[in-house]
Amino acid sequence: MNLLQNKTALITGANRGIGKAIATMFAAEGCDVAFSDLERTDAMVEVETELAKYGCKVKGYASNAAQFSDAQELVNQVVADFGKIDILVNNAGITRDSALKRMTEEQWDAVIQVNLKSVFSMTKAVQPVMWKQGAGSIISLSSIVGIAGNANQANYSASKAGIIGFTKSIAKELGVRNIRCNAVAPGFIMTDMTAQLPEYVLEEWKKRIPMHRAGTVDEVAKVCVFLASDLASYVTGQVIPICGGLQI
Ligand code: NAI
Repeated sequence: MNLLQNKTALITGANRGIGKAIATMFAAEGCDVAFSDLERTDAMVEVETELAKYGCKVKGYASNAAQFSDAQELVNQVVADFGKIDILVNNAGITRDSALKRMTEEQWDAVIQVNLKSVFSMTKAVQPVMWKQGAGSIISLSSIVGIAGNANQANYSASKAGIIGFTKSIAKELGVRNIRCNAVAPGFIMTDMTAQLPEYVLEEWKKRIPMHRAGTVDEVAKVCVFLASDLASYVTGQVIPICGGLQI
């Protein structure tokens, strides 16, 4: 299928993990893909090479999604290179897990800055572009812990809950110009981020998931393809859990 033919996407934090999977699946669906990550590493060049095999236009940019000025510059550059932005995926994110009693101000600030401020900065930067186009789809990576909370992740959960409030507000502001804004809330997905967890924590999680397994990055990417595509043309202001039925 070519669900994203003639569309251009900008995806943050796509050198690896969920962002890379979204970029790859978008390209497979006929989308031109601009993506960012903190540095232009070999991994970024590899993503460019892999995506180009689908015959789409692709370019990686070194840009810090958490920096307001970087976000503005990135969007300007992508518009100069690609001519438009139909889809924004706010994917860049980090964890700095700690119990509240040990959580430092730096851990709090870093997570809020990267996970939540980046969504504000990037969405604000693409808004005039999409407004002029009279169309757009903005997808942000929240998390089920942003819905339910999680011990030792007060900073991360707060940032992901903030994304939900932001998403619902922007959907109400921009719906009039056919700009849709949705969030996905993955549960337990196998990536470098979750690979840092100890084995016993992984096993505990799996027991609590009705489908008794972690999700894959492709299973997150498939929902993003749906939200990015015209299949979701009347879907906005929603948060879609991708969690194997996990209730926390
Ligand atoms: P990951 O750590 O494997 O990859 C994140 C990517 O974002 C990396 O390439 C990193 O360099 C980049 N990045 C970090 N800070 C950045 C910044 N300031 N500017 C630009 N790029 C930056 O993470 P993963 O697992 O792929 O997660 C992607 C998103 O999905 C994150 O927002 C995460 O919170 C969310 N998520 C992940 C879940 C999981 O189980 N892995 C569950 C729920 C949500």
